[in-house]
Amino acid sequence: MDFLNNLLLSNIANCLILGLTGYNIALLIYRLWLSPLSRFPGSPLAKATFWYEFYYDWVKPGQYYHRIHEMHKIYGPIIRITPNELHISDPSCYAKLFVTGAVRKSDSYPGYADGTGFEDYAAMIHTHDDHRSIRAPAQQYFSVSSLGQIEIQVVNCIKTLCQRLEGYRDINKPFNMSYALLALSTDTISTVLYEEPTNALAEPNFNKSWFKMRKQGMGVIPLLASIPWPARASVIQLLELISSYIQSWHQSSGAMLQPPKGVKEGFGATDRAETSRKQFGQDIYKRGAQLVQESGIYHLSHTLHTIITHLALNDDLCQALRNELKTIAEHSPESPSSWQDLQKLPYLDACIKEGLRMATGSQKRSTRVFPNTMVSIKGRTVPKGTPVSMSTYWMHMDPEVYVDPHKFRPNRWLGFQQNELIAEYFVPFGKGSRNCIGKNFAQMVMYHTLQELYRPGAPSMQLFETDGNDVVPTHGYLFPLPSLDSEGVRLLVHGDGA
Ligand code: HEM
Repeated sequence: MDFLNNLLLSNIANCLILGLTGYNIALLIYRLWLSPLSRFPGSPLAKATFWYEFYYDWVKPGQYYHRIHEMHKIYGPIIRITPNELHISDPSCYAKLFVTGAVRKSDSYPGYADGTGFEDYAAMIHTHDDHRSIRAPAQQYFSVSSLGQIEIQVVNCIKTLCQRLEGYRDINKPFNMSYALLALSTDTISTVLYEEPTNALAEPNFNKSWFKMRKQGMGVIPLLASIPWPARASVIQLLELISSYIQSWHQSSGAMLQPPKGVKEGFGATDRAETSRKQFGQDIYKRGAQLVQESGIYHLSHTLHTIITHLALNDDLCQALRNELKTIAEHSPESPSSWQDLQKLPYLDACIKEGLRMATGSQKRSTRVFPNTMVSIKGRTVPKGTPVSMSTYWMHMDPEVYVDPHKFRPNRWLGFQQNELIAEYFVPFGKGSRNCIGKNFAQMVMYHTLQELYRPGAPSMQLFETDGNDVVPTHGYLFPLPSLDSEGVRLLVHGDGA
């Protein structure tokens, strides 16, 4: 009997092994020779298996964006980077791919969100039409008129940051600007969205341990993405539970969304918001608000600490900004400047553009899928439904367009009309129907923050055990991340910097 059982078991095992081997061989043949993408050039390993990307994102870690760049040098400007995705390196194609709905419908690539904990939401906004109907009401929070109504609250958050900074004046103790700016971003974004905004700026160490944990967590995304869905969902739930115990505040899951400022009839009453709620569930906008918050805090704080660090490294540039801000303080000492006024200051504007260029927007590639249209790119036809991506980072770091791309040079933006490629290659907020929803808001926060930090009478900031490497985006995850072991940008705060 035992003998028969063993024989049966070994036959089943053999059949499983044979079946699995056959399936994998058939899949390999399909991916390499039969798939509609087989005629596109690329590394055979990248074409054959998703584990190639996993290796460069998890083992390396976060280095697939570099590997993609190297593969372009070997295989040309349009290549296959996974079994189902194409990548383009030619910046002149950007405007053709990242388009509004008037040109072409653009779906997202839901695989992009795998491992983030937002897979459910990504699935809801996957198709062009669903994305439009969910985004339209959310967009009202960030219209110029809504933002005008919360500007004063945002400036108050920035003043709280400055007061905290003042507390470090001449005490020879380092101020962690990276964590302070994450707290500022979190508080200002939640001011737009929630009835009771967060107050992370009031935390003694700006919730450093919570932010640190989130940062380390980003490195785990490629691993989680490779786990099959039911197991992944349980791990993500477990991680959320642990983080809710560790953090001292937890805004996004419990807080009440407020209507966007200036929307008289109330956010919930708008037809499109109601239709989306009926279609996707009552929590759709609450969940969306969490995503908006997550999408915004890292980009915004990273851009700001990039600018502040480079200004601390370059006295001349810092002085040029202080001099410009001195002139507006002299002209209108009483009335605080509005965001629109600040935008007119050429040097401040140039510092922000240069910060946005170096901070890079999305370090990971942005992907679009065109469900109804075949698109012709560089003499090749991209089949309908194919994920196709481009990487902002390499556009912003192109030495032919931005001389010495790793150097912070605001002057390149002054009189840049001489080189129109400087503007064409500059896409920190993306383009088209899925571009950054918070770009006006981000600009408002950045103009005011720099104005407050470098206005006459503001203290000077000197780097402490920090250098440019603490802000160089190093890992190609969803958000630009400097080295994972960086302690953040630390500063000593001294007397009067004017
Ligand atoms: C300097 C700051 C920021 C940068 C550089 C930035 C950059 C980006 C980029 C590159 C994208 C993807 C665009 C694409 O795929 O084409 C994006 C999307 C997005 N961003 Fe931002 N962002 C910033 C700040 C913010 C802020 C402050 C918020 C919220 C308050 C925000 C909310 C979002 C959302 C919700 C999306 C997804 C939009 C959609 O799919 O419809 N971002 N951002």
